[in-house]
Amino acid sequence: MEEKIFTLLNEQINKEFQSAYIYLDFYNFFEEKSLDGFSKWYKDQANEEMGHAWRFINYLHDKDQQINLAPIEHNSQKYSSVKEILEKGLKHEQYISDCIRTIYAQANDVKDFETMNFLNYFLSEQIEEEVNARNLIAKYNFVGESGVLGMNGLLQTSTDHEG
Ligand SMILES: [Fe+2]
Ligand SMILES: [Fe+2]
Repeated sequence: MEEKIFTLLNEQINKEFQSAYIYLDFYNFFEEKSLDGFSKWYKDQANEEMGHAWRFINYLHDKDQQINLAPIEHNSQKYSSVKEILEKGLKHEQYISDCIRTIYAQANDVKDFETMNFLNYFLSEQIEEEVNARNLIAKYNFVGESGVLGMNGLLQTSTDHEG
């Protein structure tokens, strides 16, 4: 595997765990407020991100590469509203979509067809991640901060697909 492709894939492991940390931070915010529908949702998201990390890990092993783990950059943050969390979630997913596109473009440049094929899953997955995040914002914009309890009820019965 080309060095620059390896580097990007290896970095993506870290970014997926960082995504899990961000969702874990959201989970903690909602757990502390006993909004268990939201916390369930973000627990599912955190677990899904770890599933994404595993996909990159397994792929690099399959390609006989030596994985190099780096520290995960994320500190717990204070959030002032549910809206802030929802918007941060969408922004982060858009950032991850960009990361995936960058790796895809580089893999394309060096004709690394296996990596392009591997990344196809993530191209589709990121569309769904952004849709989920946007749908939450749309619901929030409809009901406002005082409708958060109703949204929480909806999320209690939500099911997300596997990661
Ligand atoms: Fe992810
Ligand atoms: Fe994600």
